[in-house]
Amino acid sequence: MQIGTHILKNKLIVAPMAGVTDRPFRQLCKIMGAGMAVSEMVSSNSLLWGSPKTQRRANHEGEVSPISVQIAGADPKMLAAAARYNVENGAQIIDINMGCPAKKICNVMAGSALLQDEKLVERILEAVVKAVEIPVTLKNSHRLGQTT
Ligand SMILES: Cc1cc2nc3c(=O)[nH]c(=O)nc-3n(C[C@H](O)[C@H](O)[C@H](O)COP(=O)(O)O)c2cc1C
Repeated sequence: MQIGTHILKNKLIVAPMAGVTDRPFRQLCKIMGAGMAVSEMVSSNSLLWGSPKTQRRANHEGEVSPISVQIAGADPKMLAAAARYNVENGAQIIDINMGCPAKKICNVMAGSALLQDEKLVERILEAVVKAVEIPVTLKNSHRLGQTT
């Protein structure tokens, strides 16, 4: 499997999971055979980037390639800025969260809820792809309306 210039050793990808897929967990998954492991979501709200939690999430020191960072939000410009911020911090692939079914995320029109507005999805994809030189992936795995 290939994503941009990154050739994965297999198709086993660990899904982004807030509170689970932190850097040590991703390292462990990769060492134990995963082809890729996606980060916990990083908010596109730049006001949060200075917080210890977001700074920890943006640290990729010593991480095995490919480093895939998930960003979450609903505003194309903010998501584009978040993509650039994470590339500056070492991201090699940017993943956009359109598959988080959590009510906390859907209630602010992010995650799976974004899929209800196709025009907005188009604007987000255009803005993020234009903002960075690296591959952009979009993560969804749930049917619309299915929230947990
Ligand atoms: C604890 C937990 C945290 C999650 N956090 C995220 C997240 O940050 N971003 C995201 O896109 N999905 C998130 N998800 C959804 C998962 O990536 C995945 O889509 C979901 O668990 C369905 O996969 P499964 O059917 O194999 O469980 C999370 C799921 C769990 C259980």
